[in-house]
Amino acid sequence: MKLPLFYYDHPILRQKALLVTEVTDEIRQLIRDMEETMDAAASIGISANQVGKLLSVCLVRYPIEDEYGNYSRAPTKVYINPKLSNPTKQTWVHDEGCLSIPKLYVDVERPVGITVVALDENGNEFTEQLTGWAARVLMHENDHLNGKLFIDRLTKKQRNQIDPALRAIDKKYNR
Ligand code: NI
Repeated sequence: MKLPLFYYDHPILRQKALLVTEVTDEIRQLIRDMEETMDAAASIGISANQVGKLLSVCLVRYPIEDEYGNYSRAPTKVYINPKLSNPTKQTWVHDEGCLSIPKLYVDVERPVGITVVALDENGNEFTEQLTGWAARVLMHENDHLNGKLFIDRLTKKQRNQIDPALRAIDKKYNR
């Protein structure tokens, strides 16, 4: 079932997700619903608080770029209680968007690589070393689980430039 999305500047997007204590069928149903919601928007990631659930669950479909520069999305990957560590010193800048901040794309600087430890949807722990797009998307979703948005990572100048657009989104979706 497709779930309703929560938009900037709804307070739930600023709250920290709670750790999942047991991966139950209810959690797996939430994951399926989040996947449907993500796919309906052709998005590459979604976190549970974006659909109103304060749980540490996020999904990503990593973008894959072909030799002609066209993007497709990899199959859905589930991260429950993700813990990120060892960000690389090297960073890169690319524009990001967000389901909760429609139609706004802004350059964000992030580390090139990251290590993640998480549970899969069967409750099994796994570790991954991610680089490039995979690292970027997971860091974006992990930010959501910590009550952070990509707009918090902009320079003051960038933020000032998009403030009118942010106010318009808040007015359109929350008032
Ligand atoms: Ni987002």
